[in-house]
Amino acid sequence: MKSKLIILKLGGSVITIKDKPLTPNVPAIKRLAKEIADSRISQLILVHGGGSYGHPIAAEYKIAEGFREKGQIIGFSKTHNAMVSLNMLIIEALLDEGLPSISMAPSSFIVTRHGRIRDFHRDPIEQALKLGFIPVLYGDAVFDYEMGFAILSGDQLVSRLAVEFNAGRIIIGVDVNGLYTADPKTDENAKLIPCATLSDLKSFMGGVSGSKSIDVTGGMMGKIFELILPVMNGVEVFIVNALKPGNIYKALKGEETVGTRIIKG
Ligand code: IPE
Repeated sequence: MKSKLIILKLGGSVITIKDKPLTPNVPAIKRLAKEIADSRISQLILVHGGGSYGHPIAAEYKIAEGFREKGQIIGFSKTHNAMVSLNMLIIEALLDEGLPSISMAPSSFIVTRHGRIRDFHRDPIEQALKLGFIPVLYGDAVFDYEMGFAILSGDQLVSRLAVEFNAGRIIIGVDVNGLYTADPKTDENAKLIPCATLSDLKSFMGGVSGSKSIDVTGGMMGKIFELILPVMNGVEVFIVNALKPGNIYKALKGEETVGTRIIKG
């Protein structure tokens, strides 16, 4: 039987104003918390991105490049702290809707090696899920065995969580309608791809594009790369515009809506 667990990623471009440092998109956060509550999904892990909280500070201190000099140390702390602040806004919005959300800092239970997850302590999430909590994780500054530290993207986290907990579906909420044949923000001939198989993805890797604001974790291309493993494991993926009211609700309920479905093929 297919697992009921859903992993929902809310991109930084949805929950923050991407070109204004440390600015949350409060109306979007509140609306999305309500959509999640209205969907009455019982098994859910939420992962959110960094947007204008995580990326500019991580870029300023070159955190994704790993430890090189002592001056970066304070930048690692600031990056993590910015993510904690953003996470608190999400948690508060979910609590306001009566949802038992629980913040889990990836840097406390994940260590990477060359930026890829190496150690992952799954027990807290597993126990939380059993009791009906909604674990809320985020892209984070994490410790790395080789580089000292690294940036773990929410997308890599989503991929690992989906495989680790045998999720049925991944829903990726972004600020565009899905995957396009070209960048829809700059190319008017760009066409939405309603459904893509794994082999389609490989050929799209050259063409798709995300936003132009600072993104230390690879934008839409990085997302696609991370989605390959869960799709290979039979997890259904749906990329949808979370800035359009009702889309995340519909996606959670499994109702028809505009977006890109990714299947094994
Ligand atoms: C980035 O997470 C986290 C930090 C920069 C600390 P993501 O890569 O998942 O964030 P978005 O969704 O692209 O903003």
